Amino acid sequence: MQTRFFPLFMILPLVMAAAVSCSKGTPKTLVPADYSGWGTTTTTELNYPIPGHENNYRKIFINDTGFMVDVRDSGGKILYDYPDGTVIIKEIYQGMSITPGSKPMVLTVMIKDRENPKARGGWLWIVKNLASGDENIISQEFCITCHTNANEPHPYGDGNKDSIFRDYAFFPVK
Ligand code: HEC
Repeated sequence: MQTRFFPLFMILPLVMAAAVSCSKGTPKTLVPADYSGWGTTTTTELNYPIPGHENNYRKIFINDTGFMVDVRDSGGKILYDYPDGTVIIKEIYQGMSITPGSKPMVLTVMIKDRENPKARGGWLWIVKNLASGDENIISQEFCITCHTNANEPHPYGDGNKDSIFRDYAFFPVK
């Protein structure tokens, strides 16, 4: 396994600056505003540092469509395939711990939309700045480059020791 972790902390400020400068007059919203009733992909508390994120607490949500993931055996290799319309939201908080009133500062989002020309690996990769409301679809490769690690053994969750193709999600829905 070769690890390809790029530092997200260097990239997020650039992304957020770009979102501010190119968002005028384009208020189209892709990320659902109310996801509080959704399920999650992990009960692990994400309060430990991961590469690129520095020291920020995270929470993951997935919509009902995501629970209909197709898991199949293709010649001995297990493949996950989330249906179009799957939305996975990861909240990023300021700092390593949260209190009941804490609000996230940024959402990083994966939306399965394989026909979309901006999709990478079948997913739209989106950063939403919650202060401004700006959403920015990431057309560069850095999100998917790091998330390719999810399809091989890695240090998170169950570790994916069997190299299951997890459709770029580190924490699979089942
Ligand atoms: C440096 C590696 C890295 C980069 C770059 C990265 N991620 Fe992640 N991402 C992770 C890890 C590790 C997790 C596992 C959950 C956790 O511990 O936060 C994750 C989890 C997620 C999740 C929850 C689904 C899952 O995989 O479990 C979403 C959604 C997500 N990232 C979106 C994005 C978006 C959008 C970008 C680009 C702006 C991005 N990520 C860039 C490492 C990365």
